[in-house]
Amino acid sequence: MGRKFLVALGGTVLALSLAACSGEGAGGGDTSDEKPANLTIGVSMPTQTSERWIADGRAVKEKLTAKGYQVDLQYAGDDIPTQSQQVDQMITQGADVLIIAAIDGTALSGQLQAAADAKIPVIAYDRLIRGSKNVDFYVSFDNYKVGVAQATALLAGLGLQDRDGAKGTATGPFNVELFAGSLDDNNTQYFFGGAMDTLKPFIDNGSLRVKSGQTRIEQAATLRWQQETAQKRMEDLLTSSYHDGARVDGVLSPYDGLSRGIITALQNAGYGGTGTKKMPVVTGQDAEIASVKLINDGVQGSTVFKDTRLLAEQAATAAEAYLRDTQPPANDTTTYDNGVKVVPAYLLPIQTVYKENIKAALVDSGYWTAEEVAAGQAKN
Ligand code: GAL
Repeated sequence: MGRKFLVALGGTVLALSLAACSGEGAGGGDTSDEKPANLTIGVSMPTQTSERWIADGRAVKEKLTAKGYQVDLQYAGDDIPTQSQQVDQMITQGADVLIIAAIDGTALSGQLQAAADAKIPVIAYDRLIRGSKNVDFYVSFDNYKVGVAQATALLAGLGLQDRDGAKGTATGPFNVELFAGSLDDNNTQYFFGGAMDTLKPFIDNGSLRVKSGQTRIEQAATLRWQQETAQKRMEDLLTSSYHDGARVDGVLSPYDGLSRGIITALQNAGYGGTGTKKMPVVTGQDAEIASVKLINDGVQGSTVFKDTRLLAEQAATAAEAYLRDTQPPANDTTTYDNGVKVVPAYLLPIQTVYKENIKAALVDSGYWTAEEVAAGQAKN
């Protein structure tokens, strides 16, 4: 018989002593006999400024609610102390499992220790939490392959390769600039690493030139994945490295929000208009609706689609496994070392989306409707 059930019955000595074992007011512990309605899953998401995290939060909540669980969903406004506080509160309010998409992958060690003390399993959602032994599971996509896919889309757009990675007809040299995500997000290294491994031979043989010379991840990084920061850096790059009349031919961007900032900077500098400066090949990630429209309109080159419905489903499956006192299914037990341990993971597949397969990948699968793609806006 589960602890909460006993407490609900009226508080016997046994119930009190069991409660004391797992910490005052805390959840976790043996939940296998509990009714789902008595169990709460705390879901901590980074921000509502990006539409993907809104979709993730909604999907996770829907999947868990459909299984009958209570859900405490919180967004932290991309503020690290706010996320720490929210997770603290979930623990004191008796969460039985935590699902966390961290803002800063190293900032939650204290919270995770408190969760472990209260026997609350922790599932890292999309972004690995680093530097703690108290991360039980990780659900994400193959983040290295995302970087490879972005670089491949860039090379294909330039004609140096085809979309499957076979040799293309163009020879270059092409001018490209490189953007990376937030350095405190563990995914950033994987995205940039996968992309640079793919681009390096072309940089080495001279068919790609990073005219600014900014090829290190620290130079390319974008704190908190902010669109305005990427726009500003693109403006600075145009001023510093392209004032001699040279053209930018391609931009590696790891996320649609950054891509839109980069595209705005390029448009403001006359690219993609009626003049001779063709819009460079710009990559992306997340299939955000505003970017899908840009791809459909021939402005952005590509995005990497990661189906957040599947990620949410996998997170819900993992949470349920813990609540039933079993282990979630993993398909990768070697890649994701968080600095203290290798975290077992379930990684989902990715898909590159170009103008030509928007319908097949995004519309036919029900991710976006044709009307939403045309409008560049989600319906609700
Ligand atoms: C990453 C995530 C990407 C993108 C980015 C910015 O952690 O894997 O898909 O959403 O954050 O939000």
